[in-house]
Amino acid sequence: MKADFKHKDECRICRSKGLKKILDLGTMPLANAFLKKEELNKPEPAFPLVVYFCETCSLVQLADVVDSSMMFSDYHYLTSASKPLADHFCQLGEEIARRFATNRDDLVVEIGSNDGVLLESIKDKCRVLGVDPAKNVVEIAKKRGVETICDFFGEELAEKIVKKYGHAKAMTANNVMAHVDDLHGVFKGVKKLLADDGVFVFEAHWVGNLIGDGGFDQIYHEHLCYYSLHSLKHMTELLGLKIIDATLVPIHGQSLKVYVAKHGEPSRQVADLLKKEKELRLDRIETYKAFSDKVESNKIKLLKLISGLKAEGKQIAAYGAPAKGNTLLNYFHLNGDTVSFVTDTTPLKQGLYTPGTHIPVLAPEKMNEMLPDYVILLAWNYADAILAKEKALRDKGVKFIIPVPEVRIA
Ligand code: TMP
Repeated sequence: MKADFKHKDECRICRSKGLKKILDLGTMPLANAFLKKEELNKPEPAFPLVVYFCETCSLVQLADVVDSSMMFSDYHYLTSASKPLADHFCQLGEEIARRFATNRDDLVVEIGSNDGVLLESIKDKCRVLGVDPAKNVVEIAKKRGVETICDFFGEELAEKIVKKYGHAKAMTANNVMAHVDDLHGVFKGVKKLLADDGVFVFEAHWVGNLIGDGGFDQIYHEHLCYYSLHSLKHMTELLGLKIIDATLVPIHGQSLKVYVAKHGEPSRQVADLLKKEKELRLDRIETYKAFSDKVESNKIKLLKLISGLKAEGKQIAAYGAPAKGNTLLNYFHLNGDTVSFVTDTTPLKQGLYTPGTHIPVLAPEKMNEMLPDYVILLAWNYADAILAKEKALRDKGVKFIIPVPEVRIA
């Protein structure tokens, strides 16, 4: 199979050589590469999933980069599909329009604008422009009336946008910075496109959450960077940009919300968060080695539980087939021999098989028909809501195994 990936030997931010390996999850297919039945016997592209730490700027990152067109040209994650997420982004849009783009003529540009939810919510207040490389989501955004360029954002595109639309009073990027391989290119583009008094506000997964209760299964090939404010400070300083404000927001566990500008002084909150990160030792490799040990012991505990249940003849299925579930299944080598089926509410996934582990994905109703003894809750981030929703199933004796961050049965 042709290797559509490259291995980098230097840090994405500070270009230091000698990145330190902190967690090796082995070789696995892309987390969203669900298979059709006829593909099951064909060779499956698989890529190393290994996490590294840069001791110079403290960026946690993948060094094996899968060809971005394989991951992002056709994207099945729609922001609007999750109501709480869509509401959150509309609120962020409101804040941007109220604080940074107060005139009808002011331009707001969103990098990774997905289906246009955020920009649609403010398009009557200012000029908006989306940028996203996935054709399918760009079409949806356009139907919503959000002008969108189908491309990867970088310096060159920023220049074109300036020529055609002028400078941006505000820019935003949400849950997309983790996907960026050429970080310098993106930040240089931001510097080019942002007005002198403009602000770039973005949200990104926080590495403190990942190594805390966030769950190692957030690690998959799409997520190239796992940020701390420390690492982002390094990045912006290299390009002469300033972090003027930063906070943690309760999205995907805890995400960083960062405000970057060309001028200005950091707020008190920036200092507070940097201090918190120091206390959590997010700038130290030992912290990540401890995280790696925790993942290993998580694996041992879950596999012990499952082999015990199998020995008792119990039937095990899984609930929810999120991308992160595929990291877990592949790393733990849980395939169709152990897990009979998985159910998922997403019609697009139903009828397909999980990448690497080849477990059939069925519609949620099947759970009621098959009544397995145990289900591994792969969509464990929704544990409270799902356990409440599935009371009837649980009353019939189906037990839920919550695999991450600590194995427990409910
Ligand atoms: P997410 O964590 O990326 O939002 O993905 C959650 C996945 O779990 C998604 O494929 C939908 C699925 N799911 C269910 O099957 N049942 C549920 O009740 C919920 C909340 C999600």
